Amino acid sequence: MRDMAQLVDPEVELYAAAHTTPPPAHLEAVDVSTREGFAAWGMMVGRQEGRFLEMLVFAAQATRVLEIGTFTGYSSMAMAAGLGAGGSIISLEMDPHHPVTAPGNIAPAGLESFISVIEGPALRTLEQLQGPFDLVFIDADKVSYDAYYEAVLPKLAPHGLIVVDNTLQHGGVLARTEQPNEPARALRAFNDKVVNDPRVVCVLTTIRDGVTLIRRAG
Ligand SMILES: C[S@@+](CC[C@H](N)C(=O)[O-])C[C@H]1O[C@@H](n2cnc3c(N)ncnc32)[C@H](O)[C@@H]1O
Repeated sequence: MRDMAQLVDPEVELYAAAHTTPPPAHLEAVDVSTREGFAAWGMMVGRQEGRFLEMLVFAAQATRVLEIGTFTGYSSMAMAAGLGAGGSIISLEMDPHHPVTAPGNIAPAGLESFISVIEGPALRTLEQLQGPFDLVFIDADKVSYDAYYEAVLPKLAPHGLIVVDNTLQHGGVLARTEQPNEPARALRAFNDKVVNDPRVVCVLTTIRDGVTLIRRAG
């Protein structure tokens, strides 16, 4: 489970949350049911990052959004609020339970015509999906981040944005972590690669557990 207090002063986190527009009732309900129903509820982006994702979708005027890692649907529902006219989200999920849970949250909110959940290993599904995508949110298994990045970069719209979650790995990417776990090792390599990749421009923001924004160079 994520504990953002590890990286950011808890008082600062609370202050930031208190000065972020609260989520609508349907998202609050997903937050509550996910916390109650899933031991790994901390995988959910939550209210602050949810609003941040919505803002990115809105500012990019994104109409084709791709998400890798659906879980209970919180982040895709948050992003839906920022979609441009005619916009839609495709969300990829491997765990067979979540493509049942997420639509069960999405439909009562009236968002079923905006969000499609595709079940299966994301890398295999990605082979079948055609771009261009205006915004891609990567938030699945950390060891596959590089493979997801390589798979989606060619499908990114010229002004598109790749948004990558958990790039700080609770500090596991830092040199002071002498024995990083497997996800942290993967993120160290991924972060080093992206910042040196001439194909892109990136910024690693210290929002929650680290959110990296990537666009095409030039
Ligand atoms: C961090 S959670 C996603 C949280 C979600 N974005 C949210 O904020 O509510 C990661 C999800 O990725 C899924 N996942 C893990 N490996 C995957 C894979 N190879 N293909 C597709 N989904 C995968 C997990 O089952 C899990 O539901």
